[in-house]
Amino acid sequence: MKSYAIAIIPGDGIGRDVTDAAWAVLELAAKHSGFALNGTRFPWSCAFYKETGRMMPADGIKTLQQFDAILLGAVGWPTEVPDAVSLHELLLPIRKKFVQYANVRPHRLLPGVNGPLKATEFDILCIRENTEGEYSGAGGRVHQGTCSEVAVETSVFTRAGVERILRFGFDQARKRRGKLASVTKSNAQKYSMVFWDEMTERVAADYPDIEVTSYHVDALTARMVLAPESLDVVVASNLFGDILTDLGAAIQGGLGFAASANINPDRSAPSMFEPVHGSAPDIAPLGIANPIAAIWSGAMMLEHLGEVGAAARVMAALEATTSGGIGTVQGKERTDAITAAVLSRLS
Ligand code: NAD
Ligand code: IPM
Ligand code: MN
Repeated sequence: MKSYAIAIIPGDGIGRDVTDAAWAVLELAAKHSGFALNGTRFPWSCAFYKETGRMMPADGIKTLQQFDAILLGAVGWPTEVPDAVSLHELLLPIRKKFVQYANVRPHRLLPGVNGPLKATEFDILCIRENTEGEYSGAGGRVHQGTCSEVAVETSVFTRAGVERILRFGFDQARKRRGKLASVTKSNAQKYSMVFWDEMTERVAADYPDIEVTSYHVDALTARMVLAPESLDVVVASNLFGDILTDLGAAIQGGLGFAASANINPDRSAPSMFEPVHGSAPDIAPLGIANPIAAIWSGAMMLEHLGEVGAAARVMAALEATTSGGIGTVQGKERTDAITAAVLSRLS
């Protein structure tokens, strides 16, 4: 029987609950589809940091390299470990070291979910650059604690980095409705975003069949609320994409519905699948986290592994669950109850 090695990193807070939920669904989907998922759990988290002084062992990246994919919950427990430590020693290094340059985040309403907008017929695929830009990590601080203190954080946009994310976006647009929105801010950022616009034009020349529009990020933010149905594929830099996809989550009913895949398109290293949301310390002890985003992310993992039938089964079970009115409102039902409903609808 075909089998896949999956590294499971539940992380912190609700990351643990939603990862358990997703794993249960994925294992059953695999069983129904005639393949096996071989999961290995890693306790890397803020609790692990408190015990060991590290978010993951020194050879953590080497360990993960052997897996076919990574399923992650959420990382961060800011009252115990500063986010600038926890995220920079676990989540962000995995994305960067494994060159998971395409962060793919779908935003559409599952049947039965009432979003906050009048518009209901939207289907946006946000492609967020995931390795450089505003998250380059280049910068520093001087004169700390004095009144001449300075902090610098430099965005880095490389030709290779911008070109590959745009091409990835154009390829997605070709598989969908043939429209691509390139997210810019070249009216204010005259180096990086003017370069981004030029690269958009250059790459667009290879895709004459795709309708390309450049939007300034501020205008696009309003468009996502006022006319989300006018958007298909949206390609954005790391930080713009981060912000836009929490908005995307909001218009699809909340963070509990927003899935995400960190893809290494060359397959030179494992890709990682995780919901858009974080560890939600405000609800973590209550057992009411919506597991749908994590389960949907798991379906994206199955698709990436080539198990398209199993991925479709999981999505069908999710849609049958929400059509039946279960899991449609964040915080209304318990995580276990929603998970049980999805499991019972898997054929
Ligand atoms: P968050 O996404 O954890 O929570 C924002 C709000 O959405 C909260 O009110 C929360 O209760 C709600 N929410 C989120 N997911 C939900 C779900 N599945 N079901 C129901 N409600 C849900 O964002 P935050 O509060 O800004 O961050 C908390 C911690 O998580 C921080 O340490 C942050 O850095 C980290 N974080 C990690 C990731 C990640 O690991 N990918 C993503 C975002 C934030
Ligand atoms: C996300 C998160 C992360 C990001 C944080 C936790 C570093 O917000 O995955 O959207 O900004 O990429
Ligand atoms: Mn985010």
